[in-house]
Amino acid sequence: MLGIGDRSFRPAPISRLLGHVTDITFPPGFLWGAAGSGHQTEGDNDNSDTWFAEQVTPTVFAEPSGPACDSYRRWREDLDLVAGLGLDAYRFSVEWARVEPEEGVFSDEALDHYEAIVDECRARGLVPVVTYNHFTAPHWFAKRGAWLDPEAPALFARYCDRVTARFGDRIGFAVTLNEPDLPRVLSWLGLPDVVRDLERATLAAASEAAGVPAYRLGNVVLPEELAAMEDGLAAAHAAGKAAIKARRPDLPVGFSLALMDDVVVGDDASVRDRKRAEVYQRWLELAREDDFLGVQNYERVPYDGSGQVRPPEGAVLNQMGTEIEPGSLAGAVRYAHAVAGVPIFVTEHGLASNDDTLRAAFIEPALTGLGEAIADGVPVLGYTHWTLLDNFEWIFGYAFHYGLHEVDRATFERRRKPSADVYAGFVAAQRAGLTVREPA
Ligand code: FCB
Repeated sequence: MLGIGDRSFRPAPISRLLGHVTDITFPPGFLWGAAGSGHQTEGDNDNSDTWFAEQVTPTVFAEPSGPACDSYRRWREDLDLVAGLGLDAYRFSVEWARVEPEEGVFSDEALDHYEAIVDECRARGLVPVVTYNHFTAPHWFAKRGAWLDPEAPALFARYCDRVTARFGDRIGFAVTLNEPDLPRVLSWLGLPDVVRDLERATLAAASEAAGVPAYRLGNVVLPEELAAMEDGLAAAHAAGKAAIKARRPDLPVGFSLALMDDVVVGDDASVRDRKRAEVYQRWLELAREDDFLGVQNYERVPYDGSGQVRPPEGAVLNQMGTEIEPGSLAGAVRYAHAVAGVPIFVTEHGLASNDDTLRAAFIEPALTGLGEAIADGVPVLGYTHWTLLDNFEWIFGYAFHYGLHEVDRATFERRRKPSADVYAGFVAAQRAGLTVREPA
């Protein structure tokens, strides 16, 4: 088996990965899918906070999102790609800025649009996994201070109510918020001062351009506002969930967390444990009241008694600069479930690299580790790979590539990458119930 556990990752030739499966069997009904988000793929989300912050000077965003993947128009093509891989779930987000372009004014055109996506998912046999807020919010909401506004939970709940009233009866899972822990995860990663300064300057420039004292975003957060922002997000989750449940009590509702696989090198776990307590604990406790928890994992981060341990010389790195480690997914899932105690849905997992052979070699060992966690008793409902398409990766712009498909930036033509075949092959083999072992 490749690179599970402590063994280091060695990319294998794709030919070795196609056409065989491991002896891990996923439970019946396990959902296999792909994930994406509105702002990162739709294009021209020009009524949103992030669009506005991309345009100011200075801005921490490497480039504007512009037309993104043109998915607001090409979404049927995207659904065909998901179905074409033999998957049965699609995670996408509804853009609040489109649905409620002005405070209290709801757009039927936008609701029609997302309702059509839900219906066409179902027509293709795809379970819609719907994120109500994937970082981006309306411009008017940012002008009010975003999640720092005491009214934010009620405003979010009203929007959740409208969305659920329109098509909540036809979706499979509701994710209220995407990664409310991300700003604190990033604060632990130790972003360089230059990035921190630029974030502050971006919010100052946006506030000035919007003519408000504090224009605020969900994923560009000042350290001194982190705690208040988290309080607002936690309250918004509770209010949003209540609104969704009031419309559809049986719909599974949760939120998703950015969860690194934080491991200890040596025998001093103090730093790792402090990170877990500061970053994840409150959210994992909040999730105990939910139907499931979305786990989003991209890396393993090792710590010794004095801090984060850098990858060894010669390690294979992803574009984030962390070591590629397929076992990180299972590590994050096991930890999340041990603390939250609710079923897990892997709402994101993937790898940032321009070298698709790395992604192709990483998928199977990562999923095998996930299957082992399930075999050990961790309830996991499904897995949606991040991401269907190379897309707009926030402050990094279009330079980071996580997609199972590349997207021509001029024509928006989608091209399937070899890693997509590996993923599709793994899923097909699971469905067929194959338990062929890797040839010796
Ligand atoms: C997560 C985000 C997602 C994407 C991936 C790479 O933090 O939820 O939008 O950017 O990282």
